[in-house]
Formats: sequence, structure tokens, C-alpha cells
Amino acid sequence: MTAHDAPARAASIAPTVGLWFVGARGAIATTATFGLAALASGRAEPIGLVSALPAFAGLGLVPLANLVVGGWEVREGSLAAAAAELVANGILPAHVVEAGAEHARAVDARIVPGTTTRKDAAATPTARARSAATGREQVRALVADLAHFRATTGVARVVVVNVASTEAAVEPPPAARDVAAFERALDDGSELPPSTLYAYAALSAGCAHVNFTPSAGATWPALRAFAKTRGLPIAGDDGKTGETLVKTALAPMFAHRNLRVLTWQGYNMLGNHDGEVLADPAHKSAKLRNKDAALRSILVDSPGLHSHVGIDYVPSLHDWKTAWDFVHFEGFLGTRMSLQFTWVGSDSALAAPLVLDLVRFAELALRDGAVGELAHLACFFKAPLAGGSHDFHVQAAGLLDFAARRSRP
Ligand SMILES: NC(=O)c1ccc[n+]([C@@H]2O[C@H](COP(=O)([O-])OP(=O)(O)OC[C@H]3O[C@@H](n4cnc5c(N)ncnc54)[C@H](O)[C@@H]3O)[C@@H](O)[C@H]2O)c1
Repeated sequence: MTAHDAPARAASIAPTVGLWFVGARGAIATTATFGLAALASGRAEPIGLVSALPAFAGLGLVPLANLVVGGWEVREGSLAAAAAELVANGILPAHVVEAGAEHARAVDARIVPGTTTRKDAAATPTARARSAATGREQVRALVADLAHFRATTGVARVVVVNVASTEAAVEPPPAARDVAAFERALDDGSELPPSTLYAYAALSAGCAHVNFTPSAGATWPALRAFAKTRGLPIAGDDGKTGETLVKTALAPMFAHRNLRVLTWQGYNMLGNHDGEVLADPAHKSAKLRNKDAALRSILVDSPGLHSHVGIDYVPSLHDWKTAWDFVHFEGFLGTRMSLQFTWVGSDSALAAPLVLDLVRFAELALRDGAVGELAHLACFFKAPLAGGSHDFHVQAAGLLDFAARRSRP
């Protein structure tokens, strides 16, 4: 072995880590899976990956080449077919998909039917059959899937990441209150949101749980308490990738200059499957709540702020989210001015590297024995589980502080 070979060998003998997706053939999971193959083989640069920044080099994060991917899905299909759609829309480069074909076939073989809502007519018969069972039976089957994944791959630790379609927003039921109430609901035939069953199963199986969506996931007090009982880390909710990222980076500027924001009007158009799901008002409301709350919490010194976020499904745009924001503000002696920006981003290309970052940081938390909400990961989310500031600069500094403290010998 030459000195040149040493790092590669060191990486290959380090323990492998499982990345288990909920929604494993969706746009984000597919982009992350093919992107991972490209990054691990050195065919792509880690652009957009926060964890690749020099500030995090001392943390001993799991090498990307050591991630083993699997997951749950409820629709028919293959990663190859999902990738072909992303290539056609200019998200995934064709050469990345060609080179990652074998890796994707291996991942496809590890994708198993998940569970869904009882009225999800588009789900596969297996997923529909699962969702007809009691919550307890569904959880038992999900835990068995994770055990099988561990046993067949030999991964040392597993991070479960929810990138499934956004669920319809629900008022937290009594089952949300505490672990005992949730566990009673598992047995009494109540229908619980699938994202909460996945979160409970992940924690039961000793995995970290990351919720990249606005769905309930591990947000309810019952699930947060369960994470603590199980001694496991959780992170979420709702990835901050586009318009909200820009808003929470810009809004602090108005606050620090004591400029009064009168109106912040945002309008999003997107045409991918996520956009199709969000066209349903029940699903959209979960997303809008997170987007608006982040802005209002930063602009507390702008009394009477009028803000509105609109989301429309525009099929021809596919994954290219276009957001137009209009900010009307008041300066010295009441002089009125405005700022407008237009953001055109590929939702999947923005989200996929952050998902890989979150897996690396959550795996480190598992290794460190961190328990409950991971406050240092707030910069990745629209509604950070641990609360705290929505100001992107404060959140980014929080992650850097964590790295500096954790890397100190
Ligand atoms: N892309 C972004 O920038 C971004 C930012 C924040 C949040 N999100 C959220 O991430 C999620 C995924 O986004 P996407 O663009 O990949 O969506 P997508 O529609 O392409 O993929 C979602 C996948 O989840 C699957 N699914 C649906 N219900 C499921 C269930 N019960 N169990 C298992 N799988 C299920 C679908 O079949 C689909 O394959 C959405 O909830 C979205 O709101 C995305």
C-alpha cells in the first residue's frame, strides 16, 4: 500500500452508517442517492454541503463513502425512473445518473413498502394493507424493516430521514400529549399520521430521527419525550432551502438597521410532485405556517407587519421553484422604500446536500450519546425543534460554535 492509498483504506474500514429514507424514491431522496454515489467516488465536488466546510473537518464526521442507503416508499417505481425525470428537467446531470446506476440498483433493492394514510388510493397494495393494521402492528413491521436493514448491511448506526410528501396538517390529538397516551392510541385503532408512526418506529429501533418535512414526525410532546426516554437525538422540522433561507438571512438586516418593515409579501410557484401535494389546502397550511412564523419572529420591531406567503402549483416549472418577494419598508422620517427579489432554485439540488449533512451531524450525535432536540442544527430548518432564533446568521454561528467546542482536544 502506498501512502497515497492510506486515506481511502482508512475510510473503507471505518464502520458504515445507515441512511434510511421515508419517501425513498422522491425527488430529494433520489437526488441525494445519486449525488452520494458521485461524491463518494470523487466524481463530484461537495458544493452545497455544509459539512464539507473546513470548519467541520475536525469533527470526525462519517465519510460519505461509508453511508449505506435504504428506505420506505409507498408508490410503485424505481430510482432509475425517478432519476430519468430529474435528468429530463435539468436537475441531475445524465453522466451522474449513468455512473451511479449500479449504486442505485443496490439501494432500490433495499427500499421496502412503508405505511400511509387509510385514504391514500395511490399507494401500493402492500403499503395500503399495512396502513389498515393497528398503529402497534404498523410500528412492529417498521421496526422489523430497520432490524433487517441493520442485519443485512452490518451498519453500525442508522439515521432515519423523513423526506416523504407533506401530510395534511392536523390539530395534535390527545395522543400527542405524552408517551402513554400515544401508546394507547397505537393499540385502540386510532389513525395516527404515518410520520409519527415512522418516528416512533425509528426511535424504538435505536435510530436518530430527522424530519425534513413540515409533517408531525417527532414534533409532538409524546414523541419528544419518547426520544429522551430512548436516549436518542432528533432534529427537524422542515428543511430551510430556498425562499425562507433568503428571508431569514435578509430580515435581520432590516431589524439591525431599525428599518420598519410594513409588508413582506412572498409568492412561490413550483411544479414538482411536492408542489402537486401542496396544491391541496390541507397540506399547504403546514408549510405556510412555518414560512410565516420564521419571518415574524425576526421582525418583532416592525409592529403591524403585514405578511403573506402564497404557494401555487405550476406544472411546467417542474423542480424549478420560483419565488418573488416584495418588501415594503419605512426609513428615517417615514420615507418609504422597497426591495424585491426573485429566487429561482432547484428544490431538490438545494435540499439533497443538506440531507446528507444532517445524516452526518445526526450520526455524530448518536455516537456522542446526545439526547433529544439537536439545537445546533437549527440553521437547517424552518421550524427548529429546539426553538431559538430564526435569524440564519445566529443559527449558522450556533453550528460553528458547536464545531469549535466539539473539536477542542
Ligand atoms: N425540496 C425542498 O427544498 C424542501 C424543503 C423543505 C421541505 N421539503 C419537503 O421534503 C419532502 C420531500 O420533497 P420531494 O420534493 O422529494 O417530494 P416528492 O413528492 O418528490 O417525494 C416524496 C416521496 O414520498 C413518498 N411518500 C408519500 N407518502 C409516503 C409515506 N407515507 N411513506 C413513505 N413514502 C411516502 C412519495 O411516494 C414520494 O416518492 C416534502 O414533504 C417537502 O415539502 C422539501
